[in-house]
Amino acid sequence: MVSTVAIKAFVLVAASLPFTQAQTIQDGNQVVAANETTVAPGAVQVSPDSSDSGVSYFSFEATQLTPDVIANLTALNLTGIEYFDFANTSSSSTTTKRGYSASCKTLPGDAAWPPHLVWSVLDLLLGGALIKSVPVAAPCYSDWAQYDPDQCSTITAQWNSPQFQSSQPTGIDWPLFEGVTCLPPTLGPTNATCTLGGMPSYIVNVTNVAQIQLAVNFARSLNLRLSVKNQGHDFNSKNVGAGSLSVWTAHLNDIQYLGPKFSIGSFTGPALKIGAGVETLQVYEYADSHGLEVVGGVARTVGLGGGYIAGGGHSPLMSMYGMAADQVLALEVVLPDGRFVSVSENKYPDLFWALRGGGGSTFGIVTSLIIRAYPKLPITTLTFSFGTSENNVTNDTFWEGMDLVWATFPDYADAGHYRYWSIVCASESSCSFSASPHWANNYTTAQLQDFVAPLFANLTALGMPPQNVVYAEYDGVLNAFTNTFAADTEVVGTWTYHTGSRLFPRGNWENATSLAAQSAALRNTAVEAGMMLGYNFKAAVNPTVNQDNAVNPAWRDTLSHTMLGAVWSQTATPDEIAAANQVLTQRLQTWRDVTPGSGAYMNEADINEPDFQQSFYGSNYPRLYALKQQYDPWGVLYAITAVGSEDWYVTGQIPYYPTQNGRLCRVRAA
Ligand SMILES: Cc1cc2nc3c(=O)[nH]c(=O)nc-3n(C[C@H](O)[C@H](O)[C@H](O)COP(=O)(O)OP(=O)(O)OC[C@H]3O[C@@H](n4cnc5c(N)ncnc54)[C@H](O)[C@@H]3O)c2cc1C
Ligand SMILES: *[C@@H]1O[C@H](CO)[C@@H](O)[C@H](O)[C@H]1NC(C)=O
Ligand SMILES: *[C@@H]1O[C@H](CO)[C@@H](O)[C@H](O)[C@H]1NC(C)=O
Ligand SMILES: *[C@@H]1O[C@H](CO)[C@@H](O)[C@H](O)[C@H]1NC(C)=O
Ligand SMILES: *[C@@H]1O[C@H](CO)[C@@H](O)[C@H](O)[C@H]1NC(C)=O
Ligand SMILES: *[C@@H]1O[C@H](CO)[C@@H](O)[C@H](O)[C@H]1NC(C)=O
Ligand SMILES: *[C@@H]1O[C@H](CO)[C@@H](O)[C@H](O)[C@H]1NC(C)=O
Ligand SMILES: *[C@@H]1O[C@H](CO)[C@@H](O)[C@H](O)[C@H]1NC(C)=O
Ligand SMILES: *[C@@H]1O[C@H](CO)[C@@H](O)[C@H](O)[C@H]1NC(C)=O
Ligand SMILES: *[C@@H]1O[C@H](CO)[C@@H](O)[C@H](O)[C@H]1NC(C)=O
Ligand SMILES: *[C@@H]1O[C@H](CO)[C@@H](O)[C@H](O)[C@H]1NC(C)=O
Ligand SMILES: *[C@@H]1O[C@H](CO)[C@@H](O)[C@H](O)[C@H]1NC(C)=O
Repeated sequence: MVSTVAIKAFVLVAASLPFTQAQTIQDGNQVVAANETTVAPGAVQVSPDSSDSGVSYFSFEATQLTPDVIANLTALNLTGIEYFDFANTSSSSTTTKRGYSASCKTLPGDAAWPPHLVWSVLDLLLGGALIKSVPVAAPCYSDWAQYDPDQCSTITAQWNSPQFQSSQPTGIDWPLFEGVTCLPPTLGPTNATCTLGGMPSYIVNVTNVAQIQLAVNFARSLNLRLSVKNQGHDFNSKNVGAGSLSVWTAHLNDIQYLGPKFSIGSFTGPALKIGAGVETLQVYEYADSHGLEVVGGVARTVGLGGGYIAGGGHSPLMSMYGMAADQVLALEVVLPDGRFVSVSENKYPDLFWALRGGGGSTFGIVTSLIIRAYPKLPITTLTFSFGTSENNVTNDTFWEGMDLVWATFPDYADAGHYRYWSIVCASESSCSFSASPHWANNYTTAQLQDFVAPLFANLTALGMPPQNVVYAEYDGVLNAFTNTFAADTEVVGTWTYHTGSRLFPRGNWENATSLAAQSAALRNTAVEAGMMLGYNFKAAVNPTVNQDNAVNPAWRDTLSHTMLGAVWSQTATPDEIAAANQVLTQRLQTWRDVTPGSGAYMNEADINEPDFQQSFYGSNYPRLYALKQQYDPWGVLYAITAVGSEDWYVTGQIPYYPTQNGRLCRVRAA
């Protein structure tokens, strides 16, 4: 029985740890006879109705680590149990259970790294959910035991699929900032080798809350780096870390409709409860089956309740309803001290504020969220393009056309629309614009044709009549999304480009000088970089939800979130990658210069963003930083550019090419 093994393992651990104090060796069988179910896994079933949110727990949330479980385990007098105990925030210090103030997190190979048996005990308490990391592409490399050329071919063929990567414990969508340490050879750098690099050492394949609590307590007590990975889409690989214990929340994907008149705090209306791991398409499909839609993004596989909402979340519906984070009514969260709490307007209101927009992997690990839903509304979409290829249009005429388009940004956003647009310039004299798609929420085709007629007439008058004009009507978000955002554009696993972005504020449209400066900056960067893409929308004011949250205040004035990329070849050296990243940061400076005081979207931002605290969090930063100190004084949770991350650094980095492949250390000695 698992429990027998657990007890025996504990006895062995007690005997083998170099740092144990007094040890009481138990007769394992006797202890098991006393009570087996309370020992392994380290969890208890609580009543599903005991959530402070007033909404029943998902079944995975009713399996918890409680002080009673710890007390029972402690009563067995087995050394090592204290690694799984909760922390007392009030009496917190950076001193770990091991009795020293660590300035760096422990890495494999260090004397303090837990021996294999301790990991076995963790696995037993987790009920077997611990996975020892092996890089996904290890079968491609003869120095790994997994070497298997046939399997390597299979892996290589699927490498760019988000579904494939998210099915793998060490799957990674954006390997760049892990360190590009193990790709299939044909997709990797020249003379590629395979190491774990910035990947975690162990992964907890989470299927209940107790497992998250055990992992959090274990990592905190033993000074291990903890990483949190959901669907793994973060552009800056904020879900990994060398030597870390990874909490993998992707399988927490329950969804429940709470009815049309769900009531909490000041809200009454339709709502869904979603697990943190649900993918966007899954939520869209579920909502649609109930005649509803939700504020979500435009990638099938992005974790709606993970990094997306934590970072704010922009959406085709946001010009109608506000940001995705604004839609959150309550959350269930494992805190850095190991405790599992409900967070809402009335429970932990400070965390309710911070968890909606203040960024992932910072204040706690979210297991589920209650989000507002809306009745389905018809949507008309439009795609069109224009460019210098038409009728010998000159570069200046093209940019006059762009000025016409820019001028429409306030009205289109105020009408509730969403435009995803791009500009491609093969050279200074050869540029094209495309809106693909423009979503007109709650519009018919006839209404949208009327709406765009003045712009189209003006473009035509310039000699650039809109090309490839296609209108389509849909019954709601699900069908509009699946038909206007192609699945095959969701390519992951690549490492030869990187993007950065900027939020362009409405104030620029209210001042002709500013608008002209903005237009000139966008023109220059489009020509220099060859491509840019962006969104035209706004974060609508929505009195039906609580919008007093940690979403970057810059979002509240934004009319466009615009992105720029840097690319390099598969033969680029790390120094060349760093140089390309630096060029990107410099180009983005011209955007920063024309948008003083605004910011950038943390989920789609330059990893080298100067003064990221101001850019990603704005005036919320001091309050967020104070909450980070209050709830996580140990620094259990870390991610690059997350709140409080300036107190840490990763060793061995090339400037402008930061990776998670190094040791995480405190900037200020503890
Ligand atoms: C193809 C594509 C399309 C996109 N489209 C949009 C869009 O339309 N709108 C938009 O706003 N964004 C969009 N994004 C960006 C997206 O919001 C971010 O990549 C987001 O962070 C992904 O969330 P995730 O949970 O899948 O990622 P992860 O990489 O798993 O997590 C992101 C961050 O959140 C943390 N985190 C994850 N889960 C939890 C949890 N349960 N508790 C605490 N912390 C957690 C992680 O540690 C990490 O720091 C897109 C990204 C891609 C790749
Ligand atoms: C152990 O405790 C659980 C929970 O209280 C109880 O259901 C079970 O019967 C106990 N097992 C034994 C062997 O006493
Ligand atoms: C702790 O042990 C006691 C005594 O065996 C038992 O009644 C109780 O249910 C256990 N609690 C938990 C949370 O396992
Ligand atoms: C654990 O130790 C305490 C105090 O030393 C003792 O009273 C208790 O009986 C021990 N428990 C077990 C299960 O041996
Ligand atoms: C937390 O505080 C309680 C009460 O003071 C104490 O019994 C417990 O041992 C403390 N836990 C830790 C991990 O320090
Ligand atoms: C790759 O390996 C070959 C053979 O060892 C060597 O000649 C070459 O310089 C290497 N290329 C790079 C880019 O390191
Ligand atoms: C992780 O857990 C899920 C849910 O139980 C399971 O379907 C999946 O196969 C597991 N993955 C791995 C790699 O163990
Ligand atoms: C572009 O200009 C050339 C030369 O002036 C002319 O021959 C050609 O017909 C023009 N093309 C279009 C599409 O007007
Ligand atoms: C851009 O347009 C201007 C005026 O129309 C023209 O003088 C210039 O040569 C063009 N530049 C390029 C690179 O085509
Ligand atoms: C959608 O449009 C209809 C009629 O055009 C209007 O009555 C309704 O209020 C609109 N819905 C929203 C949410 O704007
Ligand atoms: C189109 O041009 C007219 C006349 O210059 C102008 O008043 C109007 O604002 C323009 N509209 C758009 C949408 O470009
Ligand atoms: C317009 O913006 C410029 C800076 O771009 C500023 O100097 C000027 O004062 C602003 N004008 C008005 C009327 O606000």
